[in-house]
Amino acid sequence: MITIHELRSKYIEFFKSKGHAEISGKSLIPENDPTVLFNSAGMQPLVPYLLGESHPSGKRLVDFQKCVRTGDIEEVGDESHLTCFEMLGNWSLGDYFKKESIAYSWEFLTSPNWLALDPRMISVTVFQGDENAPRDDTSAEAWASLGVPADRIAYLGAADNWWSAGLTGPCGPDSEIFFYIGEGLPPAGSNKGSDPKAWMEIWNNVFMEFNRVDERTLVRLPAQNVDTGMGLERTVCILQGKRSVYDTEAFGPIIAAIESLAGYKYRSDPEKDRSVRIISDHIRTATFILGDPKAVMPSNVGAGYVLRRIIRRAVRHGRKLGIEGAFLSKPAAVVVDNFSGPFPELAQNRARVLDELSKEEEKFLETLVKGEHEFEKMLPNLLKNPQRIMSGRLAFKLYDTYGFPIELTEELAGESGMKVNRPEFDEAYKKHQELSRAGSEQLFKGGMADHSDVSTKYHTATHLLQQALTIVLGDHVAQKGSNITTERLRFDFAHGAPMTKEELERVEKIVNEQIARDLPVTMTMMKLDEAKAYGARALFGEKYEETVKVYTMGDFSKEVCGGPHVERTGLLGKFRIQKEQSSSSGVRRIYAVLE
Ligand code: ALA
Repeated sequence: MITIHELRSKYIEFFKSKGHAEISGKSLIPENDPTVLFNSAGMQPLVPYLLGESHPSGKRLVDFQKCVRTGDIEEVGDESHLTCFEMLGNWSLGDYFKKESIAYSWEFLTSPNWLALDPRMISVTVFQGDENAPRDDTSAEAWASLGVPADRIAYLGAADNWWSAGLTGPCGPDSEIFFYIGEGLPPAGSNKGSDPKAWMEIWNNVFMEFNRVDERTLVRLPAQNVDTGMGLERTVCILQGKRSVYDTEAFGPIIAAIESLAGYKYRSDPEKDRSVRIISDHIRTATFILGDPKAVMPSNVGAGYVLRRIIRRAVRHGRKLGIEGAFLSKPAAVVVDNFSGPFPELAQNRARVLDELSKEEEKFLETLVKGEHEFEKMLPNLLKNPQRIMSGRLAFKLYDTYGFPIELTEELAGESGMKVNRPEFDEAYKKHQELSRAGSEQLFKGGMADHSDVSTKYHTATHLLQQALTIVLGDHVAQKGSNITTERLRFDFAHGAPMTKEELERVEKIVNEQIARDLPVTMTMMKLDEAKAYGARALFGEKYEETVKVYTMGDFSKEVCGGPHVERTGLLGKFRIQKEQSSSSGVRRIYAVLE
């Protein structure tokens, strides 16, 4: 039976035999990308090359990449969801395209020399076409030519068959490959379109020939690229004929460690099994994050907060299994031992992984004991409510006074047949954040010395300036620093060359036009992902809270920002650039004044 380590090696070997250079997977923490907290796909570190940079290893690449996706964290606990997984990937950077990519996938999956999967158990999907791109007949023909019957090829829309890592960036139609997970052979006519639950996705071939610049603009990339991603744990699960990824050796030893700590035999009680799976998934994810060369530590913001939540949820489920005291370092050590072969950084950072886990666990155990105690004291009163609703105010009190996470209050309430009034909690939470943000604003926001009217104006002008720079120079103009005094603004941004006189004049003109239009400046509070969906710009390397403020200036600029800003752009006066100079390598600096 093929193991997870063997599958990884076979994949690399196969694509090397097809002229691909093996490159190393990257850190879980993305570089210079404020739009994601963790690398969530194999292609993320390759974005510059998909956009047209030449890759030092050539046009055909293969690797395995550790990925973290926490969007589905609430689903973890079932038989298939994972927050951390390995993606096997191969790329063509303007070399081969659909036909060859599909042929490679088919050969690897079905050839007796490689995975030897039964072709009758496989079905595929292709893009059905929309205003962005036509129906993908080329891919459908490629599958048909390999012997895939017509009833196993489903044409689906963009929700299923258009792939991008984020709201902007390289994207395109894709063709996904599925394995039948029903009983016996799939019936005639069954495919992902007709019977979605019976088919498990194992591989995605994305044909990246577009770049999404903004909501309205899709442009062709300089080259037709291929980006594929195969889920290692899922594929090994199929190859081993297992019903769940948790039944493979990726999780077996972790589960064994939990079984011995809890004195519980996995698969004897469905509710407890769920806790075992949550702990094993979360501990594996936490170990990979803490074992990363660029590890983040548990904290209350951004990636650190995700890590904290993952660790705390694991601890809580340990207690549900009856495990007393700190225990996470034991299964974490198993993860380090089992995955240090492909990921040597885990062994190198072993001490940090175990120490940080234990520290966070101890801290949380104290919180838990206090919070649970308080909840129990509240319980008799809560149960008097005939609707079985716990007020958001009380839930917030637990959070505010004892640091007791809302998710856990909800779980505890659920165990007594109650629901928490979440909107009320969110309201209280938002207010609290607003207050604490206002207090620390001066320290955080780009060196802003004070909130005097003048510096507020400069702050608003900075937003206009950045948008104007993006229009004149392009989308690469990311903010690299900002400093405001009552005399001037200073703005650093990514750009490879000195700006020409004409470019400076255009920028100045655009900003002054927006001032003349007297645009209203409005602020809306949103969840961070809503802000992204809304198209708001977010700052480089900034760590955001879950709920953020978005400042909108007419139809011209949208940005996540703590503020404050003037109410209308017409209040700014005349904008003039004083100086444009180098700040550091690849970073330019502008000084500008309002007159
Ligand atoms: N980048 C593609 C995915 O993650 C392959 O599905």
